[in-house]
Amino acid sequence: MTDEHLPDGREPAAAAPGQPGDEHAVPARPGTSPGSEIDPHRDPVPDPVPNPGLEAHEPRPTDVDPKLEKRAERQVATMFGLATLLTLAFCVLYFVVPVDATFAGTSGSNLALGGTLGLALLFIGFGAVHWARVLMDDHEIVELRHAAASPDADRAEAVGIIQQGNEESGFGRRPLIRNSLLGAMGVLALPAVVLLRDLGPLPGDDPKKTVWAKGVRVVVDISGQPIKPSDLEVGQLVNAEPSVFFEEDEEGEHLYHGTELLNAKAKAAVIVVRMEPDEINAPEGREDWGIDGVLCFSKICPHLGCPISLWEQQTRNLICPCHQSTFDLADGGKVVFGPGRRSARTWAARSASGSSRPAT
Ligand code: FES
Repeated sequence: MTDEHLPDGREPAAAAPGQPGDEHAVPARPGTSPGSEIDPHRDPVPDPVPNPGLEAHEPRPTDVDPKLEKRAERQVATMFGLATLLTLAFCVLYFVVPVDATFAGTSGSNLALGGTLGLALLFIGFGAVHWARVLMDDHEIVELRHAAASPDADRAEAVGIIQQGNEESGFGRRPLIRNSLLGAMGVLALPAVVLLRDLGPLPGDDPKKTVWAKGVRVVVDISGQPIKPSDLEVGQLVNAEPSVFFEEDEEGEHLYHGTELLNAKAKAAVIVVRMEPDEINAPEGREDWGIDGVLCFSKICPHLGCPISLWEQQTRNLICPCHQSTFDLADGGKVVFGPGRRSARTWAARSASGSSRPAT
């Protein structure tokens, strides 16, 4: 150590081992450089490449000029402040910009939300980097490589280093930076809370309701072609949907589209099968739910909701591809194998036109 002090009164960092000023340094052997003799187990053969050592430390402008130091502090706080404003702007834009707004051919909502939140994170990053580069203590360290084990002494040393880092970063001494950073990080939680709105409103009994209603026709899922019993052969299975997904209003717009269509389809998809009427063992009270051996079942697996349409014509079993739950459609959709615990859901076919209603 020397008697020299930095302009702000702090002591200069201790000299690195092997560097000028390190009173514990082992004197260099002839032909070696300072620092290359620190390890006593080192091969006595001199290094083929001399250790160049560390260049003399140059203090940064902010280390020697209090005005520059203050200016840098304000710059860091400004970046954290901008991050705070951008995060608040994110929350406002979430409510102000319509989801279907477009800007320059892309989603205006995504652009506004992504832009504000991205810039907020960027400014926090810029502020942290600038803080570390120009304000946190600046001294070079040479450290010898140690064994991987962590004895208690090392752990205690690690704690000391963390405390020293806390001291050197000035986190406690610089309330402007500390508070602006805490503010910026704190409001970052707001977008997560705001985005929770997309999960609601709570579904209530919505999962139990479908678009099926009296008079809705059963149609082929891709083409929208109405299904008649006479079109089906014995043993045939058809993937079907309610006709409303193909219907249009007076302006030629589909009644269902976008997310609403996907949600409605996910609940209303069905399969229609035809079996020999005398093969069918209808559950009690459902004897009249089929027409000429035509039955309609929900396509949604009652186990975890995968779409089911693997049909074993010979056994009249329907198999779910996800976990192999197997349902006997000739026996009321009863589970005959797999993790499913509830029978496939039967829907009643009521007329030759395919009018149907959900099972109760
Ligand atoms: Fe069908 Fe699991 S989702 S068996």
